[in-house]
Amino acid sequence: MAIIAPSILSANFLNLERDIEMINNSEADWFHLDVMDGRFVPNITFGMPVIAAMKTKAKKTFDVHLMIVEPEKYIEGFAKAGADILTVHLEACTHLHRNVQMIKANGMKAGVALNPHTPVDLLKDIITELDLVLVMSVNPGFGGQKFIERTYRKVSDLRKMIRDHGADTLIEVDGGVTLENAGHLIDHGVDALVAGNTVFSAPDPVEMISKLKEVRSV
Ligand code: DX5
Ligand code: ZN
Repeated sequence: MAIIAPSILSANFLNLERDIEMINNSEADWFHLDVMDGRFVPNITFGMPVIAAMKTKAKKTFDVHLMIVEPEKYIEGFAKAGADILTVHLEACTHLHRNVQMIKANGMKAGVALNPHTPVDLLKDIITELDLVLVMSVNPGFGGQKFIERTYRKVSDLRKMIRDHGADTLIEVDGGVTLENAGHLIDHGVDALVAGNTVFSAPDPVEMISKLKEVRSV
């Protein structure tokens, strides 16, 4: 049974409280929160004040995905805003190891995200330090994009790396996740599924979350 993390990027920003309550009352495990700066990715979303406000109503883990340059400047700020897991992009960090240590020193679990073109091999000297690896299965920036099939292979390679190093790192996949590909992703070794469009465009989002939760390996 995978961890299900609905992505707030696809929620109704005019009525966030209603969508927070929907997730609170569903079988979802985490809130996935996409922070974009208009520099690392060609889109701008929300930041610390919105996350801190959401935290007053939300009852589940905050999985914060930073798509920003120089994330080290804001690690403490996101800890104060209520992030439980903080994920930075490998491509945005010159000193990835230092940033991972900073995230942990601020009391959060540390994640690293990989763009579709970034090989998982680049993580082999840091994998034992990571609580989570987020494999992007679309190019980051927008919800509702088509899943990139190469992701399965990357997840298998990453699963092998984690096993070979005796690490307990979780694998999360983000982008284009549907009821159709969720089973294959679990088969390849995914622990956590992010779902934006699949959840929020469903007629009944709570039911869709239950269906994703029920998916077993195929
Ligand atoms: C994209 C974000 C995703 C996005 C996923 O850059 O990181 O979390 O919300 O949305 P869907 O599930 O619609 O592809
Ligand atoms: Zn994301």
